[in-house]
Amino acid sequence: MVNLPRSVFIRALVPITWRTSARRMGSSLRFFSVMEADSAWQLLYALDAVDDPSTGALVLQHALEEVHHACEFERVAMAYRSAPPPRPLPRRRPIFERERGAEAWPEFFAHAHVGEKDVFHQFDAYTKGVGDCPARSVFTEAKKDERGHAGLAYKLLLTYSGTPDKANAFVRRARRDRAWETWLRFSRRLGSIPAGLFLTVLYALGGLGSVAACRKRMRAGAGFSYPKRKNDP
Ligand SMILES: [Fe+2]
Ligand SMILES: [Fe+2]
Repeated sequence: MVNLPRSVFIRALVPITWRTSARRMGSSLRFFSVMEADSAWQLLYALDAVDDPSTGALVLQHALEEVHHACEFERVAMAYRSAPPPRPLPRRRPIFERERGAEAWPEFFAHAHVGEKDVFHQFDAYTKGVGDCPARSVFTEAKKDERGHAGLAYKLLLTYSGTPDKANAFVRRARRDRAWETWLRFSRRLGSIPAGLFLTVLYALGGLGSVAACRKRMRAGAGFSYPKRKNDP
């Protein structure tokens, strides 16, 4: 539901913002690197609780591919000299609830499936929007992997939830949770706009008021003058 407007937004905006600002391009690529590294961390955190060796191998391979994506995004971000220096990593909140044991697997894989699908659509839009630049091949390669990850996560979700109906119910819940998180992020950003607008209007009015006052003073001949010294005529 969110993917279509987001894709349209990315394809309309990225060609303008990335071509006019290398700094913005570098920051966005670095953001993707951090996001991919976080995915890898989430998988490795969950891997610790996997008992089945074949599931463990699949999860480990998935994590290594996310590490590869993180390195690739960082590599292309480094090509833009004006990109800001690396930021400290954000504090991580594990998605997998280890204390709940095996019961937590379906939620984790549903979340992974929904996240991978969203990232696939996002990277697809970037592939079409970035034009001919080094980042394009990174997006193209990563989006193929993300499609595979979405399929793998759903397969594991089916295994751990038991039936397609149960699996789909977990997917719907994961989608609702993500939509809610997106809304919270969006409203936090929206909340900062009125304050910014208010200050801009205040500065503009203050500036206009000062100009008017100066003009009035100059017209009245009360401009700035140096104080007279003792020996001045
Ligand atoms: Fe990835
Ligand atoms: Fe992925």
